[in-house]
Amino acid sequence: MQLKMLLTERFSTAMIALGIPSDCNPMLALSGKPQFGDYQANGAMAAAKRMGKNPRNIAAQIIQKVDLEGIAETLEIAGPGFINIHLSNNFLSECLSTVEKQKVTADKQQNIVIDYSSPNLAKEMHVGHIRTTIIGDTLARILEYQGHNVIRQNHMGDWGTQFGMLIAELELYLDDDNAELALNDLEVFYQQSKKHFDDDPKFATKAREYVVKLQSGDAYCRDLWQKFIKVSIAHSLEIYQQLNVGLNADHVKPESAYNNDLDVIVKDLMDQKIAVDSDGAKVVFLPELADKNGNPSPMIIQKSGGGFLYATTDLAALRHRANTLNADRILYFIDARQSLHMKQVFITGRKAQYVTQGVSLEHHSFGTMMGPDGRPFKTRTGGTVKLTDLLKEAVQRAEALIKQKNADLDQEQITNIATKVGIGAVKYADLSITRTNDYVFDWDAMLSFEGNTAPYLQYAYTRIVSIFRKANLDITDIQSNICITEKQEKSLALKLLQFEEVVSQVAIDCYPHTLCSYLYELASAFMTFYEYCPVLKTEVPKSTQHSRLVLCSLSANTLACGLDLLGIEVMEKM
Ligand code: ARG
Repeated sequence: MQLKMLLTERFSTAMIALGIPSDCNPMLALSGKPQFGDYQANGAMAAAKRMGKNPRNIAAQIIQKVDLEGIAETLEIAGPGFINIHLSNNFLSECLSTVEKQKVTADKQQNIVIDYSSPNLAKEMHVGHIRTTIIGDTLARILEYQGHNVIRQNHMGDWGTQFGMLIAELELYLDDDNAELALNDLEVFYQQSKKHFDDDPKFATKAREYVVKLQSGDAYCRDLWQKFIKVSIAHSLEIYQQLNVGLNADHVKPESAYNNDLDVIVKDLMDQKIAVDSDGAKVVFLPELADKNGNPSPMIIQKSGGGFLYATTDLAALRHRANTLNADRILYFIDARQSLHMKQVFITGRKAQYVTQGVSLEHHSFGTMMGPDGRPFKTRTGGTVKLTDLLKEAVQRAEALIKQKNADLDQEQITNIATKVGIGAVKYADLSITRTNDYVFDWDAMLSFEGNTAPYLQYAYTRIVSIFRKANLDITDIQSNICITEKQEKSLALKLLQFEEVVSQVAIDCYPHTLCSYLYELASAFMTFYEYCPVLKTEVPKSTQHSRLVLCSLSANTLACGLDLLGIEVMEKM
């Protein structure tokens, strides 16, 4: 049972018994400072206002009535009517003894579709793809951890007009059979074909022809396209592996997969009179998203020339996810710049009854990653930064740091640690800020061993493991009663008990920084505990030592589990 839930239940019961309207929430929250207790119930003020009574009196009555026998030591009124709750040490000890069995599996298992990463395959993955990939993957892990059926959908862009240009370019290499070589660097290949397209009208005409042929199923163009796509997908899969992100070939459901649905969707929307003809194009006009002059927001689903658009494909994908995949929730992790597009798709999808009311459609957007100059992250020469280069640099930088700290590790160990630290640092720097904000990419800050960083948390983990190594004990085999007496033990215990609460929160609002802040606080609580409460020293009584070792082992497990939900690995030494 989560502490906050338990307290909420007990307070609600008391409030109802006092005749307080049942929709008045007891408003349980963590206390900001230990002197204000461990939790606070802040609902007395609102309840008093509703009833026209004095808030401190109401708070006093609630304190009289609430049954927290064996749970809380003291309750006190603070300020205008806050109730500070000091939990009992015994109660926390008992809860912790069963914490292993506490893992909450969601009440009801849901089918949850998560659309994330979804790069355009015309070019190589670049820094612009990192946020969707990392944040989406964290949510996939968290929802899976809760027992949901997570369906990852990598909506890769493999069907746009650019592919005509790319296959016209690829054709140039076929004769000398060095297509493979040509595709070695997709970025260079793209630039070359773009140059041909811009400079050579004949090439441009052919490229345009090829898109049409490709989309109408021409075998030759399909074949060339397939060659290109195969290389590009393999490249993305490699990045996922480097990033320790759980996307694989089975999750690829690219735009082209919906090709046969597109004219069906357009016809259906026309039949339902949701779309109309407008200068030859088929358009959905949405009064729900009208501008300030009252003009409805237009979403084109078919161009006058017959071509389909990004929105058409998204409607087809939405229908597939709701009907065929049977989704209860559909989550999209896409840049904030696509907010209007997502709103249009959601509203239209509901109007057309591709999605029933019960299905939750959620666009979880995010800000931009900025360079040190405060502008979108670029290479020194102003180009886009390839993800593969960024990750390589992360590992190199981590390696230099690890070498400095540990002269006695061999190269294999160093490479192994540096990979986990470097990749972890990049991911954590992204996950630990509120996702809707922009953030500045800063190597030194993210690789620091102090502060709210991955290396700090990984280091905290290795510290704990080293306690067990020193004592020659198996960390997985520690069993004892927990006995909490010191205040540092209490703070740590409380933190440990809040893990599931935090995970549940992130599963709902999809803000992973909450989990990061929690892990940072947990690691800090552990460090303070370890400083004040000796564990292995000979003068420590055996029962105390055993109890503290359990706290250590729970701390290590919780840190490792939390980091794993963020897709970050831990190690025994660093
Ligand atoms: N390929 C798109 C882009 O790079 C992102 C796709 C996101 N998913 C979606 N269903 N629209 O901008």
